[in-house]
Amino acid sequence: MPEAKVAKLVSETKTARLTIGDKTLELPILKGSEGPDVIDISKLYSESGYFTFDPGFLSTAACESKITYIDGDEGILRYSGYDIAELAEKSDFSEVCYLLLYGDLPNPEQKKDFTNKVTHRTIVHEQLQFLYRGFPRRSHPMAILVGAVASLSAFYHDSLDINNPEHREIAALRMIAKMPTLCAMAYKYSIGHPFVYPQNRLTFSENFLHMMFSNPSEPYVVNPVLARAFDKIFILHADHEQNASTSTVRLAGSSGANPFACIGAGIASLWGPAHGGANEAVINMLVEIGSKDKIPEFIAGVKDKKRRLMGFGHRVYKNYDPRAAVLRKACYEVLQEVGKQDEPLLGIAMELERIALEDKYFIDRKLYPNVDFYSGIIYRALGIPSQMFTPLFALARTVGWVAQWKEMIEDPKQKIGRPRQLFTGAPHRPFVELSKRK
Ligand code: CMC
Repeated sequence: MPEAKVAKLVSETKTARLTIGDKTLELPILKGSEGPDVIDISKLYSESGYFTFDPGFLSTAACESKITYIDGDEGILRYSGYDIAELAEKSDFSEVCYLLLYGDLPNPEQKKDFTNKVTHRTIVHEQLQFLYRGFPRRSHPMAILVGAVASLSAFYHDSLDINNPEHREIAALRMIAKMPTLCAMAYKYSIGHPFVYPQNRLTFSENFLHMMFSNPSEPYVVNPVLARAFDKIFILHADHEQNASTSTVRLAGSSGANPFACIGAGIASLWGPAHGGANEAVINMLVEIGSKDKIPEFIAGVKDKKRRLMGFGHRVYKNYDPRAAVLRKACYEVLQEVGKQDEPLLGIAMELERIALEDKYFIDRKLYPNVDFYSGIIYRALGIPSQMFTPLFALARTVGWVAQWKEMIEDPKQKIGRPRQLFTGAPHRPFVELSKRK
């Protein structure tokens, strides 16, 4: 085999030329509608005997997609061409779900029909409450959700045939509709309150607040400002192209696994503190810092690599996360509405942000606040315990997972995902009998 160190890529208009030793391969360059072109290496192994090596997928496009576009250097996020800030301002979560699933904003009739289909699927099988009751009260709600969502495949057999478009459609609607119910049930269970049934007269976000905060003993009126804030937060989290949890859903689904099991896998991936678990970690960090005078010491620890500044940095955004910009504003609106404009944690967050944006360590590494930096402050102001923050992320991201899963299944070129590896373990060696091992 020729030495790989002499490999070089020459980019041309339509093909890239890869020379390894005395062999030159022509690799097609594929053009997207926006963003960097990609070099198609799918035949590289069969034609050269080489794999590519890209741990963490820093330079690898794993699929083709029409759903979400990100330009991380410019801080741009668009769903099907629509700018995230504009959607958050002018649209609502129901329309955004439709947009992600079907590629266009709905007309009034389509919106009514879609909303109706989701609304009438919010209730979950009564048997699920027994599944919840099997968990310790102090369980992390993400632990419950991983199990509860995967368990839906045991309840809804009529939407498990992934090759049937009608089944796929119903599974998608069910997932979007039932996630708020499952999340609110996890919360109610943790505080020992009765589960609250969904209300079909309410919007998606109103219904979620109702299931979280009402109880059978007294009437509950949803605050429209808070419902709108939630709608905005859900829109901002709805999809984010091929992040870790979405890639997990796609990889799980590529084997033909049912959608409920795949979303369960996505929830597990989201849980980690480098991903969706960061919103909970941000609040824990702010509480731990405790006061502004402790910030310099904390930042020094971050620069010494003893810890990370949670809610900062992103694999793709090397600029202000556009979702964080919207949430920063929403944060002020919500705190004003609930009379907590002097919330000390917000003061600490603002000061951390100010210092980080001026500090060479963060500037050199292009570390800006991400979506998780502000969401936790809003949730906390609304009395939502920090363990529920990541479930809220999962609730909103479900539509993105489902849309990406559907897109993958409906792609005629779809294959099972099967990455390869650079093996660095022991080469072949003879087996040693137990008595002869040292
Ligand atoms: N605090 C301090 N230093 C950081 C941070 C941070 N939050 N993030 C990255 N760095 C440093 C890192 O130490 C490294 O420095 P050096 O070059 O000296 O070794 C450099 O920046 C590059 O870091 P990396 O780990 O190679 O970057 P990545 O692209 O692999 O990681 C990340 C991205 C999101 C995992 C990381 O920035 C991080 O851990 N952030 C904190 C957790 C967080 O807020 N996650 C939420 C992401 S947004 C929500 C979502 O989409 O899930």
